[in-house]
Amino acid sequence: MPPPKRAPKWLEAARVRATGLSGDWLSRALARAGVLPVKEAEDAIRAGRVRLDGRDETEPMAPVHADSRALLDGQPVSLKWRTRVLQFHKPTGTLTHGTDRQGRPTVFDALRTVLPADMLGYGWHAVGRLDFDTTGLLLFTNDEKFVGHATAPETHLPKRYVAKVGAKVIDAKLEPLRRGVKLDDGETVRPAKARPRGEDAVELVLTEGKFHQVKRMLNVVGLPTLELHREAVGDLELDVPVGAYRELSDDEVKTKLNFEPRSS
Ligand code: URA
Repeated sequence: MPPPKRAPKWLEAARVRATGLSGDWLSRALARAGVLPVKEAEDAIRAGRVRLDGRDETEPMAPVHADSRALLDGQPVSLKWRTRVLQFHKPTGTLTHGTDRQGRPTVFDALRTVLPADMLGYGWHAVGRLDFDTTGLLLFTNDEKFVGHATAPETHLPKRYVAKVGAKVIDAKLEPLRRGVKLDDGETVRPAKARPRGEDAVELVLTEGKFHQVKRMLNVVGLPTLELHREAVGDLELDVPVGAYRELSDDEVKTKLNFEPRSS
């Protein structure tokens, strides 16, 4: 089942502009703290099920503060939160988008089937995108700052892929990738680490994430991608089976992904 539709980002941004609100707001705070995912939080707030700081609150964008107190259906809920990061082994045939007009399965559906009940209340963000047919390491988090950190090209967090290709791989063919090639749209990508992994596979390590980047880079050097798998992000190696997840420790987030997690 596709996850419930949440307010699009442009609408959130428009609300922020209209209210002049730059801090945190109620639906987002509830999702980040693991009380309710964003769309469910928005629905609960509009339905009058939430009190904030002693009054009924029906506006999902209502500002919340560090010491705000919330009740859901009359019961106190904590808005305290800490950074949580999951590694998930994305199966092929899953979208990294939240919803799809054609009703195709998403990584959010796949994750929800394996999460325990006490982790279903979070608004999980997929960290970057993998194509429908790409498999491998996909991170999820409740912390928007972590998403920014891990996806910003300025962070230079390496992502390691292995691609099975439809032509014979010889080392010389990979040389242009090590210098930085121009893609089909004229944009030049950063030099990447590239090495053969047998006769029909290539390992590529990228520090940026443009649309279909691996496939487009390999096309430039005449190596069409047949299968693509992400093995590692930063110093984190994928270590769970297909469809499974594992929560990372704060220490792993710090040392392997170079991010200081927030503790509650
Ligand atoms: N590059 C691609 O071409 N596809 C992915 O899914 C990830 C990186």
